[in-house]
Amino acid sequence: MQQDILVLYYSTHGATRQLAQLIARGIDAVPGARARVRTVPKVSTVCESMEPAVPDSGAPYVELADLRDCIGLALGSPTRFGNMAASLKYFLDGTANDWLQGTLAGKPACVFTSTGSMHGGNETTLLSMMLPLLHHGMLIVGTPFTELALSTTATGGTPYGPSHIAGPESRLPISDAEKQLAVAQGKRLAEIALKLSVERAL
Ligand SMILES: Cc1cc2nc3c(=O)[nH]c(=O)nc-3n(C[C@H](O)[C@H](O)[C@H](O)COP(=O)(O)O)c2cc1C
Repeated sequence: MQQDILVLYYSTHGATRQLAQLIARGIDAVPGARARVRTVPKVSTVCESMEPAVPDSGAPYVELADLRDCIGLALGSPTRFGNMAASLKYFLDGTANDWLQGTLAGKPACVFTSTGSMHGGNETTLLSMMLPLLHHGMLIVGTPFTELALSTTATGGTPYGPSHIAGPESRLPISDAEKQLAVAQGKRLAEIALKLSVERAL
């Protein structure tokens, strides 16, 4: 039987989506695990969402049931002023019932981001993305330095989770190190999620 791990991201220019796909590749490489890739609609400050009910391209929109069904979560956002994008935060702010019910408590989670500049906040974005997940009782899975690319990367990749440095015009491709670290993170999350899922079932 395969168990799903939710890869939930928001992306405007596609870089965070590419990281999501690499993490999903890592998850799918673990026998018994399957990535369920989902996104969130854009939000506007002045009106209800005008997004189509189904996105024109990319992953389907997430539903609260996805949180309940999945045994782990990889959460990805572009950096927005050193923090996660409002669209993703808006979705998380709608999960109060799941917080009350403990839907996510005890499940593992990791976070990932794409940032314009090297020191423009990729680490602060990752750390702040962990906060709502900790409130939900999730167990945060970082990237260990046993992943050799973490010590040698000259682009993205942090102990707090995978990241990509997209450059001032968002044109830089995902580097080999960023790719390796994202795939490894997907595998690590899936392996831990499967073990914890067995423990919870006992
Ligand atoms: C409103 C806004 C705020 C941003 N804030 C930052 C920032 O604080 N630091 C940074 O380096 N890049 C920042 N960027 C750039 C994005 O993080 C970067 O282009 C990212 O790679 C976009 O990811 P995406 O391709 O998944 O949309 C910002 C972009 C926008 C539109």
